[in-house]
Amino acid sequence: MSNAQQDVRFEPNWESIRMHRVPDWYHDAKLGIFIHWGLFSVPAWATPVGEFGTVDWDRWFANNPYSEWYLNTLRIEGSPTFEHHRATFGDGFDYMDFAEEFNARTRRWDPLAMAKLFKSSGAGYVVLTSKHHDGFTLWPSRVENPHLPPDRRCSERDLVGELTDAVRGLGLRMGLYYSGGLDWSFNPTPIKSQELVGATINHTPEFAAYADAHWRELRERYDPIILWNDIGYPEQADLAAIVADFYNDHPDGLINDRFETRKPGSSRRHHDFTTPEYSQLDEIAPYKWESCRGLGYSFGYNRSETAEHTVSETDLIHLLCDIVSKNGNLLLNVGPRADGSIPQIQAERLRGLGAWLERNGEAIFGTRPWVRATGETEDGMPVRFTAKGDAVYAIVLGRPGPDGISLQLDLPGRLRHATLLGSSAAAPASYDDGRLLLRPSVPLPDSPAHALRFLIR
Ligand code: GLC
Repeated sequence: MSNAQQDVRFEPNWESIRMHRVPDWYHDAKLGIFIHWGLFSVPAWATPVGEFGTVDWDRWFANNPYSEWYLNTLRIEGSPTFEHHRATFGDGFDYMDFAEEFNARTRRWDPLAMAKLFKSSGAGYVVLTSKHHDGFTLWPSRVENPHLPPDRRCSERDLVGELTDAVRGLGLRMGLYYSGGLDWSFNPTPIKSQELVGATINHTPEFAAYADAHWRELRERYDPIILWNDIGYPEQADLAAIVADFYNDHPDGLINDRFETRKPGSSRRHHDFTTPEYSQLDEIAPYKWESCRGLGYSFGYNRSETAEHTVSETDLIHLLCDIVSKNGNLLLNVGPRADGSIPQIQAERLRGLGAWLERNGEAIFGTRPWVRATGETEDGMPVRFTAKGDAVYAIVLGRPGPDGISLQLDLPGRLRHATLLGSSAAAPASYDDGRLLLRPSVPLPDSPAHALRFLIR
């Protein structure tokens, strides 16, 4: 925790709230697990057209690769999802009717197994979709939704509560995602263009009271440490009071950057970190950021995705190193099936990342950016740097050959010691004329990335 904040009393206004600082635990954790789970996990279907950011907006909405957007895509007549839905479930089948199947399947869910898998990835925190854009809540909310019947508005089982307990029981922190701008039960307008995303945000007093009541209820019942909001928040909301209360209870809590009203001309609220989606920054940022992405092209489970659409273990490890070297965290998403089980390929990626972190986590966890983020070995392999105390870490994103690793580097002092993480083999190193040479005494293990630690005098 940033101890300096222990004594600050936050007032319900943005000027006061902006005094909040990012807590150390979040800087240290580096990896979180995002979970997109809900009614959309029943059909679990979308067209895997490409990663976010690589598909033209003109084509995006009718072919949305995000399966959690199923209801919206279904509302676009003639879209692949529209056709798929008709062929699979029949013409008159209403999306909210998936609630029955969802409730039946979630009865089989094992929260502890899920939490254990997340822990095995090395993640320090978890963020669950408590309510996505479709409006269905994963906890039995006492807040009434005037637009949905009671058996179609929330899950039977308290998925938020049970996962929170399981996650905390294993020593991880728990955050909650909430769609505070879009709620398609309040506004059923199909979103067919980028402009309509902002234009369909529910800026009504009715919805503002509803979303505020939800956030208050989530806080009271589950006490999340991250409030991860999505796609804006109503301008009429009582948000500053909610956030000030949150920080007063939890100086070590955080809110993301998607609580803005998104109305042109409205003044900035506040955030602890930014949230680039399927993208990273090029340089070390002076502020904290958290990149989120699915293991494939979708956040929600999409049964039509295959290994071809899924990030490889090597790329995933490189991605984490890249993000961490630039002051970011990775919020890596899994999309469970409706029954809460995690598709094998996703589970494999989490375990693969965890196994790498088991050996090399010292170069990731608890580090801060070094003076520079990126470099290259003399034979052209990318390198990412991090630092902690008097150690500098160079992570080689590749498999160095038998000649070892050679790097041009400006070390701010004399090299005292160099070690290869996760290996007991001696790694004699020299540093002359700005050239660092490391020759391990035995061949390097087969690993997607190799982390070196230098101690500098
Ligand atoms: C976007 C999408 C959404 C996903 C989220 C994750 O806002 O609408 O489906 O939940 O980003 O960052």
